[in-house]
Amino acid sequence: MQIREYMINEHRECDEILSQLEDAVISGDWGNVGAKFNEFRDECERHFLEEEQVMFVEFEAKIGIADGPTKVMTMEHNMVRETLKEMQTALESSNKDRMLGLIESVMLILQQHNMKEEQMLYNMVQMHLSDKNDEIINRMKEIKV
Ligand SMILES: [Fe+2]
Ligand SMILES: [Fe+2]
Repeated sequence: MQIREYMINEHRECDEILSQLEDAVISGDWGNVGAKFNEFRDECERHFLEEEQVMFVEFEAKIGIADGPTKVMTMEHNMVRETLKEMQTALESSNKDRMLGLIESVMLILQQHNMKEEQMLYNMVQMHLSDKNDEIINRMKEIKV
């Protein structure tokens, strides 16, 4: 499997969990909201760390630029992380409207973020790091939250 394909699959999985979280909030099933929120936060964080600790590091070393697209992508990860903290607070007070608004925000950030990765960054990564394809995937699989 290519790195690009592996990472796009993870985007789809995170989208699916986020959509299930939204459904749980709409139906007012707060027990399930808690479970889905934890699942989303962990999967999303694991994917971000795979990028920040393995893929971006390798890519920056290869192209010799640390201040380019990977920096912008990491800033966007941090925006999602901040929103997830706000979601945790909304969850603790069972605030449905706030929760739905924050889910909408995360969906929007991730939609634009993932599009940039899938249409640009992952292609550049694939081009520059294809000689280390399997090694990079194996190292990303080791990442724990
Ligand atoms: Fe990313
Ligand atoms: Fe990604």
